[in-house]
Amino acid sequence: MTVTTIVAPTYEEMSRVAADIIAGAVREKPSCVLGLATGTTPIGLYAELVRMHRDEGLSFADVTTFNLDEYVGLEGTHPQSYRWFMRHHLFDHVDIDLARTHTPDVACPDEAEASRAYEKAIEDAGGVDLQLLGIGQNGHIGFNEPADDFPKATHTVTLTPSTREANSRLFASLDEVPRQARTMGIGTIMRARRILLVANGSAKAAIVRDALEGPVTPRVPASILQFHPDVTVVCDAEAGVLLS
Ligand code: F6R
Repeated sequence: MTVTTIVAPTYEEMSRVAADIIAGAVREKPSCVLGLATGTTPIGLYAELVRMHRDEGLSFADVTTFNLDEYVGLEGTHPQSYRWFMRHHLFDHVDIDLARTHTPDVACPDEAEASRAYEKAIEDAGGVDLQLLGIGQNGHIGFNEPADDFPKATHTVTLTPSTREANSRLFASLDEVPRQARTMGIGTIMRARRILLVANGSAKAAIVRDALEGPVTPRVPASILQFHPDVTVVCDAEAGVLLS
């Protein structure tokens, strides 16, 4: 297993360390392909990347991005859509070319076609150099929920009640939380050359331990990362407290 774990003392430090890793990848290969995540965890690291762009000239001009997932049924202009999240937290504050930023196509009614197109777009871009991941309390990565097997490619998922409940904090009511999302599959994620997983807070401590030190099982989707050749996990002290 080739997982490097960094336990930072605070959320701010976790964000700085993770942003440094992403900035390093961009500096080393200005035309790199980044896989990106949304959620609460990466907000601090995106803010740090924006700061590095502003203060240190970190340029995203030649970077291509593919987000992990998107809700079905929300327009890209909806404040809870992941497209909007990315613009709000990163894209609108750096010099990235929006034409090179991608989220799974949730407008396409043909699910199989939308999935094929996303996989092909990633492949045509040369594959993901560095994939950023958060982790759900049930071990999901992207929207790959605990299941009987590991989904290979981009697909449409029906969100579990616990994930809808967890995400409802960002919506006016639970009813407004979409019931489906399109997400990269576990296979898509595992093809990234390098993976950076971030986690913070005590609510993530048990799942971080299970994912990194427990058995590899689709019941804990993130546990598959133990089989990836190049994974870095950056967590704060609270999320890392149960790691041996
Ligand atoms: C978001 C995503 C999800 C989140 C996970 C953790 O694009 O794919 O898997 O990374 O739900 O979310 P937070 O960071 O809000 O705890």
